[in-house]
Amino acid sequence: MSALLTNLTHWKSLESHFGEIKNVQLKDLFEKDGTRGERFVLKVSDIYFDYSKHRITEETLSLLLGLAEERGLEARRAAMFSGEKINSTENRAVLHTALRAPKGATVLVDGHNVVPDVHAVLEKMTEFSNQVRSGAWKGHTGKSIKYVVNIGIGGSDLGPVMAYEALKHFSQRNLSFRFVSNVDGNDFAEAVEGISAEETLFIISSKTFTTLETMTNAQTARTWLLEQLGGDASAVAKHFVAVSTNGEAVSKFGIDTQNMFGFWDWVGGRYSMSSAIGLSTMLAIGSEHYYEMLAGLHEMDEHFRTAPLNENIPVIMGMLGIWYADFFGVQTQAIFPYENYLKRFPAYLQQLTMESNGKHVTLEGENVGYQTGVVYWGEPGTNGQHSFYQLVHQGTLLIPCDFIGFKKPLNVLPPHQDYLIANMIAQGEALAFGKTAEAVKAEGVADNLVAHKVFEGNRPSSTFFIDQLNPKNLGKLIAMYEHCVFVQSVIWDINPFDQMGVELGKVLAQNIIPELQDTSKVLQHDSSTNALIEYYRS
Ligand code: F6P
Repeated sequence: MSALLTNLTHWKSLESHFGEIKNVQLKDLFEKDGTRGERFVLKVSDIYFDYSKHRITEETLSLLLGLAEERGLEARRAAMFSGEKINSTENRAVLHTALRAPKGATVLVDGHNVVPDVHAVLEKMTEFSNQVRSGAWKGHTGKSIKYVVNIGIGGSDLGPVMAYEALKHFSQRNLSFRFVSNVDGNDFAEAVEGISAEETLFIISSKTFTTLETMTNAQTARTWLLEQLGGDASAVAKHFVAVSTNGEAVSKFGIDTQNMFGFWDWVGGRYSMSSAIGLSTMLAIGSEHYYEMLAGLHEMDEHFRTAPLNENIPVIMGMLGIWYADFFGVQTQAIFPYENYLKRFPAYLQQLTMESNGKHVTLEGENVGYQTGVVYWGEPGTNGQHSFYQLVHQGTLLIPCDFIGFKKPLNVLPPHQDYLIANMIAQGEALAFGKTAEAVKAEGVADNLVAHKVFEGNRPSSTFFIDQLNPKNLGKLIAMYEHCVFVQSVIWDINPFDQMGVELGKVLAQNIIPELQDTSKVLQHDSSTNALIEYYRS
């Protein structure tokens, strides 16, 4: 049983240190130390990580890293990589890192090396995607595939959509990709609008193959396809493939397990985009690029696994999050990619971070008694600047921001890139250093407007500057956040690998479905729920 976080020596030191730091201004820290912007930086392969604009000193960092050590982060990290069953509530190993382990590696789960299994699936995916991409895979009427529709939700959707959008530049443009997740029929209807079943491939992506949304959409897709193709059920084999851990449910649905790409219970849903759940990604960008993405993921895994804590990007990111959440009482973390291809990255991170660390009890089931996971949110810059940045600059909330930018643009269209990056750098500068009343007055601003034009500053941010958005660097970025989540979970002593908080609503919906369908059913909910059901029925 681990010690209570708030009783740890470093926690207590951080509490008193916080008293000294809370009013310190970034402006003063930078003025006192001319090299701060070069020292609070890590450069790990293509990633330049500037964390100098955080409300920390060398002492803060050393206390935070001391807390990580005292909490046993290194041992927990080793336990994860070695396949120990650290997902204790589900008695499972946690081995998304094995999904990107190189071919000759060994990762044991219950004494069995899973790496050859991973590579066997990758090879099957490669063969299939080559066939589809080359046009050799024919549909029921002999036509090649033009449209790929991934049906899945949560981790079986957000990772694939994010990666597809992020890597669109590398995608095969004569294939069109659509993603259906919502049980709202409008999602399916719009995804198949104007496309022909003869040229459509559905990927039914579901770890469990029981999820209401995915199973409903999959049935609707089956009906839609068979209606268009004259009702011959043998057409399903040419137009449906499944990605799942549940072979039995897949064949029950009517998909030949030959057309199934498997993965394992040691891959969590939100950690699954580098498993066969990435099939749509491979179809879009091809296996070579896909393997590059895996190499990037692996490179960051290795960095996290081996780098000393003070040179370890996910460790420093994670500990900064602890500093803000548990000492400053910060409740949100903004993600601002200055890269339009990363427009779905914040949504992807929301599941990764919030489904993982949105927990209120420790591994032993005790109430934590301190703040855990924060709300992640964001939009690409510069769009956000013309919307919610007002609150980030002048509101009353403290919102740490992650700026993510790339040095080399994928589409060279001067002067766009310079304008984009100038804005990203300027935002971090404005947030940190603000603008004083004196500076505003010196511009001749009327007295009654001065207060409105003041920027308090002292608002923290990290900047991740990466060479170029490509499959490898996307892989690094994803693994970097995955491991940051893990670091925080270790400090908070919570399980980031289960998601029991999503269950209650699902169960209650199952009770309500028959009550909506059969109006004679007597309602026995609270008065609000009863009234809502009655309103719908009417
Ligand atoms: O409801 C939450 C959840 O279980 C996620 O964790 C998961 O990614 C998603 O549903 C989809 O699950 P599946 O892949 O089993 O359909």
